[in-house]
Amino acid sequence: MSVDRRIDSELAGYRIVEPLGRGGMGVVYRAEHVRLGRPAALKLLVATLGPADHRERFLRESKLAASLDHPSIVPVYDAGEEDGLLYIAMAYVEGSDLKTLLVSEGKLPLRRTLRILGQIASALDAAHARGLVHRDVKPANILVGPDDRAYLSDFGVVKELAAAGTTRTGSFVGTIEYCAPEQIEGKDVDARADVYALACVLYECVVGTAPFHRSSDVAVLNAHLHAAPPKLSKAAPDLPAALEPVLAKALSKSPLDRYSTCDEFIALARAAAVPEPRVSRARLAISFGLLAVAALAGAAIAIAVDRLGGGSGKAAPAPLLTTLTVVATPPAGPPPLDRLLLKSKDGRTLNDAAFALITAGEYARALPFARKAMRDAKRGTLTRGYATFNVGYALLNLGKCGDALPFLRRSLKIQPPENRVYIQERITAAKSCVQGGASVQPQFRSSGAGSDLSQGP
Ligand SMILES: Nc1ncnc2c1ncn2[C@@H]1O[C@H](COP(=O)(O)OP(=O)(O)OP(=O)(O)O)[C@@H](O)[C@H]1O
Ligand SMILES: [Mg+2]
Repeated sequence: MSVDRRIDSELAGYRIVEPLGRGGMGVVYRAEHVRLGRPAALKLLVATLGPADHRERFLRESKLAASLDHPSIVPVYDAGEEDGLLYIAMAYVEGSDLKTLLVSEGKLPLRRTLRILGQIASALDAAHARGLVHRDVKPANILVGPDDRAYLSDFGVVKELAAAGTTRTGSFVGTIEYCAPEQIEGKDVDARADVYALACVLYECVVGTAPFHRSSDVAVLNAHLHAAPPKLSKAAPDLPAALEPVLAKALSKSPLDRYSTCDEFIALARAAAVPEPRVSRARLAISFGLLAVAALAGAAIAIAVDRLGGGSGKAAPAPLLTTLTVVATPPAGPPPLDRLLLKSKDGRTLNDAAFALITAGEYARALPFARKAMRDAKRGTLTRGYATFNVGYALLNLGKCGDALPFLRRSLKIQPPENRVYIQERITAAKSCVQGGASVQPQFRSSGAGSDLSQGP
């Protein structure tokens, strides 16, 4: 059937205006609702009159897709069968799709990629929460509008047909470049198949080719099933090394080894994308020097205490013992070592100490260092920004979410723009913790992701 013959014709209450593109299952037209005048995209599935259960499944899935209400999921207006064709009417997205974008612009910068895919991740998670798996996440199904607003399309529309039909016969409908191993093997799929596909898309965006791209379909399928993901350090050495393990986990052969949500995957990819801070050797030397002095001082005090307290076997005079009682009782506040280090007036050294303690998960000990670093560092300096973040971050991990918020917000204004997304995520976490009273500690401890922003260059 010629595509052109449909132009200006009417179908299911829509006037067909022009073709927008053609996929594996049909053609998508720009259309207009005749009565409402509303623009729409009308997808016609050609050669779809297969067994009745295919049609039923298609209609059922379309209904489910239409019930999804998310800013990054293309709204479905209607679906049905007319003139022997299955159709789906959806919102028309002005712009392009990611596949076309990759063809015209080549690979994309990591930050732009994460901006686009972050929206798609949240759309997918919302759908997963409703029990719907996309199963066909790929660049052609990611529509990119003005200002990189991204929309996921074809939710639960075509692949059920494909899964029940053509794929079973061995020839995939559309592309197989993003297909999870369990999907290839015909096993049950869940949200983690979409995590895998999203990781393939991310890889393709930043490298330029899909991770398991090969010269034949069989080779691609085999690579999904058996080949290790290609080394990012080889394929794109300019990308942050920390991205490699994040991608590798998302591309695990077994869904059990992958991230369980798309948001988690993208959040960790974002954290990995933040340039690693360079640790100043001079500052480290000062910090370690102070630590060593403090340790020696502590040891000297301990020996003196031991001797005075009879550790040497000699009896101590009574008045000294009285003094000893005072010395030996630990005063309230930071330990002696910390008190010594806290005497430093150098904001950077203090922030280094806070950073080291945060990295070790010692949030309560880190707090006084971060607070003093914040006070001692000059206004508007990066050190002050990092220290302010450290105060908020330590408070957040101590469960004092309400107290953490003002510091995190303030650090947002001082820290470099590339850290903003990450800080914003912590602000969101603090807010939801304040509202829901949920503890955030395990999340941060396990990811250990805060450290990148904790220390300036
Ligand atoms: N809602 C929409 N608004 C604007 N353009 C759209 C819309 N939906 C699809 N398109 C355009 O139509 C093209 C074809 O879409 P289609 O879904 O048929 O192809 P595909 O995704 O490549 O293949 P598949 O059949 O596997 O989904 C898309 O790549 C996109 O450019
Ligand atoms: Mg599509």
